Amino acid sequence: MSEPTIEDYYVEDRTFPPSETFRNNALIADRSLYEEAQEDRLGFWARQARELVTWFEDFETVLEWDLPFAKWFVEGKLNISYNCLDRHVEAGRGDKIAFYWEGEPGDTRTITYNELLEEVSKFANVLKSLGITKGDRVCIYMPMIPELPVAMLACARIGAPHSIVFGGFSADSLSDRIDDADAKLLITSDGGYRRGEPFPLKDTADASVAATSTVENVIVVQRTGQNVEWDQTTDHWYHELMESASSDCPPEHLNSEDLLYLLYTSGTTAKPKGIMHTTGGYLTQVAFTHKYIFDLQPDSDVYWCAADIGWVTGHSYIVYGPLANGATSVMYEGTPDTPRPEFRTGDRAEWPKDRLWDIVQRYGVTQLYTAPTAIRTFMKWGAQEVEQHDLSSLRVLGTVGEPINPEAWMWYHKNIGGERCPIVDTWWQTETGGHMITPMPGVTTTKPGSATHAIPGVVVEVVDDAGNKVERGGGYLTITEPWPSMLRGIWGDPERYKETYWSEYPDRYFAGDGAKIDDDGYLWLLGRVDDVMNVSGHRISTTEVESALVDHSSVAEAAVVGATDDTTGQAIVGYCILRGGNEPSDELREEIRQHVATKLGAIARPKAVVLVPDLPKTRSGKIMRRLLRDVAEGRKLGDTTTLADESVVDEIRDRAAEAPQED
Ligand code: WTA
Repeated sequence: MSEPTIEDYYVEDRTFPPSETFRNNALIADRSLYEEAQEDRLGFWARQARELVTWFEDFETVLEWDLPFAKWFVEGKLNISYNCLDRHVEAGRGDKIAFYWEGEPGDTRTITYNELLEEVSKFANVLKSLGITKGDRVCIYMPMIPELPVAMLACARIGAPHSIVFGGFSADSLSDRIDDADAKLLITSDGGYRRGEPFPLKDTADASVAATSTVENVIVVQRTGQNVEWDQTTDHWYHELMESASSDCPPEHLNSEDLLYLLYTSGTTAKPKGIMHTTGGYLTQVAFTHKYIFDLQPDSDVYWCAADIGWVTGHSYIVYGPLANGATSVMYEGTPDTPRPEFRTGDRAEWPKDRLWDIVQRYGVTQLYTAPTAIRTFMKWGAQEVEQHDLSSLRVLGTVGEPINPEAWMWYHKNIGGERCPIVDTWWQTETGGHMITPMPGVTTTKPGSATHAIPGVVVEVVDDAGNKVERGGGYLTITEPWPSMLRGIWGDPERYKETYWSEYPDRYFAGDGAKIDDDGYLWLLGRVDDVMNVSGHRISTTEVESALVDHSSVAEAAVVGATDDTTGQAIVGYCILRGGNEPSDELREEIRQHVATKLGAIARPKAVVLVPDLPKTRSGKIMRRLLRDVAEGRKLGDTTTLADESVVDEIRDRAAEAPQED
């Protein structure tokens, strides 16, 4: 018998109300939070801030709003690491497990709140001993190992903002971010494990430190034991520094608006933006959403966000939200297609791709939070791996990072959720800090593919080109009122902050996403409307990749588009005109792809590079990316009337057909 296909059970416009069983046990099963927030938005957030956060000194003013600059919970004093650790220990929950950590090679660590507090306090003292004080920026470039949350919380404990750079970024990207933030310290590791192999990080870190001038010390966690270069004056092993460190480090009393972290994200120019998040408002919204959107039952749940901490999802929903709520979480180092070593027999292609389901079963995971790209990959792999595992512990499923297509939603619902688990499709951004548009699992009737409605206390509107509110139909997503975990600015560039987010439509935050409202008032997110691509849920700007392409000595001109891709949402396709004297060849194409990976990191490596004699341009010389996208997606060309030379596109189409597409 052949496997049932999606069409066998997917019915257009089906709706999924939360089941009675789920509602009976849910933290919230009525509209009370929406009503409360609707009546008094600031009062609602003030209540959440006092309920979910422990303050050393209570705040006086809920919000100071000088558009577009917000201050939340002004005069309040707190410490995030105290909220994530000490208060749970003080309440007698020190033996509770904070993280079940699993390394890709199958090694595991179980870390209690007691142990995490001790490790964080010691490391905070290490930071101090290296001269790090409140306000100093610390750059972190690490794999998914427990020392990563330790480093973040230790920074937060002493008020030193962290700036985490995802381990897949290149040396150039790392040094750009170190320079922009003037980071004094870099924390890294010798390497980490991915796809069954150790990968190096210290090498890349060394190259970036050499290219920057502010880093005084480098702390290195030993993870893989691989050989590393060592500079006696700057480099320190984590385990050696920790040996003699005291575990007595009282948390600093910080202001609600003190900077907690910077996180760089791609914009529409080649220069990434350092998004600024502060303390009190951020913690309030991530704790609120982590608790109510995942329906967290702290005494019985084992929560798992399968993202990387290098992205905002990991900051908010692996570290700060779950720990503030005293949750038990799973943290996994590697990739889903790498089973535990005992199952790695034969060719890699024959390895079971069941690591995620194996983890869900062994730890009894109750909430799973992952990206649509991952779900589509699992669909491609088929349900047979899934069926061999007991996933009955799961209660709530989440998605994040990109629009989820209804087919993937249904597959997730049926095969992973056993048609029993509400799915929360959470729309938000690095800039918003926490969830903004998502169902509440015990309240909202969901529709596959729709993120449904704004959370209580958040107000969004869809507007047309002229900035007028749209009641039904398509337009651009905007946010009309400040929210607690909103970005406070772009590091070092307040003008760019105003310009990027607040100038497109007066008095509104412009998210850069298209959206539509259906006849029932449900929101559907339609993807980016600017020059930002979304590849596997990661933002990459076309301009950034274009500058990496023209940086190659053989490339004269380049244009990049994000073409729709069945698995990764969008895929990067680069069109390059070669400099005189270069002949197109497969080797050169490959070299150019690799050059982008070296400049920006492997995540930005184009799926295809097409070497073309010319680019389609308007008579005024503007590249018509729309036509390139048509070519990349194999569509008939749209309107070509403004094209200067029509024959160019035919030639490009022929070349595109020849260019290999890589993974
Ligand atoms: C997209 C990730 C549709 C969107 C948390 C946004 C989504 C960008 C969703 C932010 C979703 C994120 N449905 N699109 N549920 N979640 N996006 O900063 O285009 O890495 O602007 O934050 O991802 O990406 P970022």
